[in-house]
Amino acid sequence: MTSRKQNMLSGRPPGFVYDDAGLRCEGVSLQKLAQKFSTPLYVYSAATIDQRYRTFDGAFREIPHTICYSVKANSNLSILRFLAKKGCGFDVVSGGELERVLAADRKAAKKVVFSGVGKTRDELSAALKAGILLFNIESESELSALAECAAKLKKTAPVALRVNPDVAAETHPYISTGLHKHKFGVPIDKARALYAKAATSRYLKVRGVSVHIGSQITDASPFGEAMERVADFVRTLRRDGHTIDYVDAGGGLGISYDKSNADVFPAQVADYAGNLIAPLRGLKIRLLLEPGRSIVGPAGVLLTKVVYKKANDGKRFLVVDAAMNDLIRPALYGAHHEIVPVTLSADAGVTETADIVGPVCETGDFFARDRALPAVEEGAVLAILDAGAYGMVLASNYNTRSRAAEVLVSGKSAKVIRKREKISDLLRAER
Ligand code: LLP
Repeated sequence: MTSRKQNMLSGRPPGFVYDDAGLRCEGVSLQKLAQKFSTPLYVYSAATIDQRYRTFDGAFREIPHTICYSVKANSNLSILRFLAKKGCGFDVVSGGELERVLAADRKAAKKVVFSGVGKTRDELSAALKAGILLFNIESESELSALAECAAKLKKTAPVALRVNPDVAAETHPYISTGLHKHKFGVPIDKARALYAKAATSRYLKVRGVSVHIGSQITDASPFGEAMERVADFVRTLRRDGHTIDYVDAGGGLGISYDKSNADVFPAQVADYAGNLIAPLRGLKIRLLLEPGRSIVGPAGVLLTKVVYKKANDGKRFLVVDAAMNDLIRPALYGAHHEIVPVTLSADAGVTETADIVGPVCETGDFFARDRALPAVEEGAVLAILDAGAYGMVLASNYNTRSRAAEVLVSGKSAKVIRKREKISDLLRAER
């Protein structure tokens, strides 16, 4: 292996490594996968998901806890089934996500928490029938709707209120949620009265308190700060006579999207766990956790082929066959994703700086701007890294582009876990 190849991904999480034939996912060549299944193609490493899930779980071994993987990050049925087999629970935010979980594993219902600011009566009723673990309720109106649905079904709904702790955390403004100006949760000082109201309903059973301050947060201290406020609030609620068995800490632990993405996950998640656990010591609660990105983000890549190279005056472009409809994070949040060629030529030391853009008719359709990459020819396959979370789930059919296929690799096996869409699939529902 050349030192150049080693350097390209040195220190990154181990699911994707170079050998002499190019970039592999576990024991499978990505060049071969691109040839066999075509591009754009999402490829996930099962070993990486497994390893990250176990690292996360292990970091909380000190206290009773349940991991409720946040389905929105990557909701492929095979991935949900893979996690369910490990005993993982799920955080869902829609009736559709609940159906996915039930399709993956019916028995997982008892480990499902239902979050979201606008759950409809139909969705609440479906979750009541499924017998989920906890409803994270976000407003007085929603609490009344849940009581009404539960009464109709003659079922008791287990309830937590999602409190808004008014804690700032550094992340993109679109995915920060823990301040009063955000639409999420109930301010802690208002929540007490709502708990009192919930306690009067025959069909609601107060069980916990939940919080979620945002996503892609890499500093663990805001999580600790929010948890201190929640822990104080649990003591207040218990003094008021409520039974609080659960604290749901939400998700939000960020990953490094940089080249220097050394595999710091064990240390990072240990620090995160330390910040969450400290305020909860002695409270005798079960901690629920809703990680999404930190479990699946680094476990996936998006493979795309260079269709054309072009230059407009001095500016160079690599026009690739994936677009913002396949991975919208750069266009939507200005997010950075590392991009590497899947095979490196002998003179891979030569770099070229270019914008890597898709074919969609918008200037916002880019994956990287002014990015230095080893020089590649038309037809070369590129891997966009850290695309396992909020990649495929946010894909659309914009420009009447069919959505990519997904492949799950485990050791030497590669299985298609979602077929590539056909244009006829897109036209079917229309008149
Ligand atoms: N729990 C709740 C209530 C959430 O709203 C979220 C994410 C999570 C858990 C999982 O958070 P995670 O561990 O994945 O950070 N599309 C954006 C991210 C949106 C996150 C929305 N909520 C992105 O691509 O960065």
